[in-house]
Amino acid sequence: MKAPPIDEWSGRVLDVELRAYALPERLVAADLAQLSAAERSRAEGFSASRRRVEYVTARAHLRRTLGAILGAPPPTIPIDADDFGKPQHAGGLQFNLSHSGRAVLIGWGARPLGVDIETTRRPARYIGRLRIVAAVVAATSLEPVAAFTLVEAASKAIGRGIGALKGMSLVGVDAANELRFATRGGATIRAAPVALGEDYVAAVAVLD
Ligand SMILES: CC(C)(COP(=O)(O)OP(=O)(O)OC[C@H]1O[C@@H](n2cnc3c(N)ncnc32)[C@H](O)[C@@H]1OP(=O)(O)O)[C@@H](O)C(=O)NCCC(=O)NCCS
Repeated sequence: MKAPPIDEWSGRVLDVELRAYALPERLVAADLAQLSAAERSRAEGFSASRRRVEYVTARAHLRRTLGAILGAPPPTIPIDADDFGKPQHAGGLQFNLSHSGRAVLIGWGARPLGVDIETTRRPARYIGRLRIVAAVVAATSLEPVAAFTLVEAASKAIGRGIGALKGMSLVGVDAANELRFATRGGATIRAAPVALGEDYVAAVAVLD
């Protein structure tokens, strides 16, 4: 069963501005109007209406937010996926987004970053077996799904897809469960939980 919608939420963690929103049941025309032509065409290509709503709603919230920051009409903001699929702003403003259940989380800031949100109902059996997730569980008081959001946010900050997890190691944890990961290439990433209530777990990560 899907987790219920989340109320609108805002916060700031690791110097990243964060907003969470509910996903509507159906496509909202005003949301579609915020997207670029390329995004509207991508949205039309999704066969699952659930995925279309998720994609359109998340991009609309992202574009409204970036539009307010940049003083530009949301559909005109230049956002393109890089070679690894990570959407990037051509002007260098850093952001990332995640969706799960009936919620979307967006984050933006000055440094390359990743965000992840999961419903607490996501089965933990498989993800708990991932080496790096098991290391986070062992080093913190967190459940596997919450530990997974920290790992996933870190991998999204790096932006190279799940392949980046192989070479990633946990190098430190403080009392607030703020973690420090290192990649094989020597980059370090800070990650911290984002408290969104009982139905969702979430995390944000930034490249040092
Ligand atoms: C990015 C990824 C971790 C997303 O995982 P997920 O839990 O399914 O989805 P989430 O809801 O948390 O995040 C999805 C969003 O992350 C963003 N995203 C996509 N690729 C990304 C990447 N490489 N790094 C960071 N963020 C990425 C997008 O905004 C995407 O949402 P959208 O498609 O609606 O715009 C996963 O899809 C992945 O690993 N992708 C890379 C795949 C890859 O390695 N491809 C090889 C490219 S050559």
